[in-house]
Amino acid sequence: MSSIVILTGAGISAESGLGTFRDVGGLWTRYDLTEVATPEGFARNPALVHDFYNARRANALDARPNAAHKALARLAQDYGGTVTLVTQNIDDLHERGGARDVIHMHGEITRALCAACGHRWDAPRVMDPADPCPACAAPRTRPDIVWFGEMPYHMDRIVDALEAADLFVAIGTSGEVYPAAGFVDIASAAGAETLEINLEPTPVPGRFDRVLTGPATRAVPDWVASLL
Ligand code: APR
Repeated sequence: MSSIVILTGAGISAESGLGTFRDVGGLWTRYDLTEVATPEGFARNPALVHDFYNARRANALDARPNAAHKALARLAQDYGGTVTLVTQNIDDLHERGGARDVIHMHGEITRALCAACGHRWDAPRVMDPADPCPACAAPRTRPDIVWFGEMPYHMDRIVDALEAADLFVAIGTSGEVYPAAGFVDIASAAGAETLEINLEPTPVPGRFDRVLTGPATRAVPDWVASLL
């Protein structure tokens, strides 16, 4: 039985209405990421950071999973081999599309973290810098999201899966942010076939063995159908 490792990025949730980061009009063209997506930015102005993520949490909770999220859930359910789904996205559309055991390497907008004691809990819809941590009561709550300069989550498990993969598929990601951007190299070095599914080919030709282009809501279901 073969094993597939899938990495998704903001492009898979674009057609659900959630913004990407580096496309025209993307989040990082409208916000300074050093202000809202770094520990230093949070230390400087926690209220600004909570405002930013409160808006993203509302968008994510109001969004609906699309055909691409649902197709990946179907693949994980019906495929004869193993499917490991890793996402850089902080939304829960994979889960609401039916996927289980999703590996959120950049954290989750639906979770909160205490910067003082490390306690984690389900985030309220709106978070406020004055909120006390439910465990230690310190007013140091933050979204449970991995910011630039912080270590992504579950890296050991992800690298193990990449090194055992027969196929690595990157869907809707620009491949600009490491360590995720290097997953294709790890999988390829371990002998996996590599496939990129994106609205358009990402700039480095030849990085993937195969490239399927088109909107995720069409290209992903078509690809999944070719496997099931
Ligand atoms: N279908 C498929 N792909 C799409 C679609 C679509 N409808 N719309 C956009 N894309 C592709 C774009 O071509 C681009 O390659 O999605 C990708 C989005 O790239 P980014 O905006 O850079 O998002 P992502 O790759 O997920 O960013 C990685 O950077 O800022 C950090 O933590 C953040 O997880 C994020 C990480």
